[in-house]
Amino acid sequence: MALPGGFNLIELGSVGSTNDEAKSLAATGAPDGTVVRAASQTAGRGRNGRTWVSKKGNLYFSLLVRPACTAQIAVQLSFVTSIALAQTLSGNLPVTTAVTCKWPNDVLVDDKKIAGMLLESAPLGKGPLDWLVIGIGVNIASYPCDVMYPATSVHAAGAPNIAADELLAAFCRRFAKWRTIWIDDGFVPVRDEWLARAAGLGGEIGVHLASGSITGIFDGLDEQGTLIVLREDGERTKITAGDVFFPTASNQ
Ligand code: BTN
Repeated sequence: MALPGGFNLIELGSVGSTNDEAKSLAATGAPDGTVVRAASQTAGRGRNGRTWVSKKGNLYFSLLVRPACTAQIAVQLSFVTSIALAQTLSGNLPVTTAVTCKWPNDVLVDDKKIAGMLLESAPLGKGPLDWLVIGIGVNIASYPCDVMYPATSVHAAGAPNIAADELLAAFCRRFAKWRTIWIDDGFVPVRDEWLARAAGLGGEIGVHLASGSITGIFDGLDEQGTLIVLREDGERTKITAGDVFFPTASNQ
């Protein structure tokens, strides 16, 4: 299969993790836009040390980018990626499905997780980040049942004929478009677009943190993409890392 200009596809069979493959390639000088895709993974990784079950039939890939900015700014590319993924899925699923973004970087379809993302970067230095690997898993044919957040797949969500190849190419086009917007106009249009699709904005959320859990109203994102939670006492708490849940949802 072919990807749009600016992307270079490496297709593999079964690997441990496409993120590890992409990180090795990054270390040996692979260019920005390298996409490592695998049919399955034997050691797929999710966020916070979780396993990403990676059977054949779903989409597993890692995109290597070499952003000309610091790691702190490069993290905004996770929002660029989420928008590109959400728009791609939205364009391929029945119009009645709601495709939303869950902070920090999950994509939901009708409140169920359909895609997740794991970002890994070069060791941090003072200057621009050498590389960032954006690992993406999209449930196409199957989804896990025994997970902490309910999941679904492209096929289960009403698009049984969509192939992973089509989605990958469409994702790359959208990613290129939104990355250009981000480079030219900064984070504000990206944040606005992400917030327009944000799951739970203005409602009650909970966040599992390393130190415990907090609840409050999902009040928005700051200029870095940090989550803002309005607490019962009126304080606004800013959160850079955690797992969001929706306390009033019936499916959790
Ligand atoms: C999450 O939601 O916890 C993130 C899941 C990320 C999974 C993808 S699949 C391709 C890439 N390789 C990995 O080992 N993980 C990411």
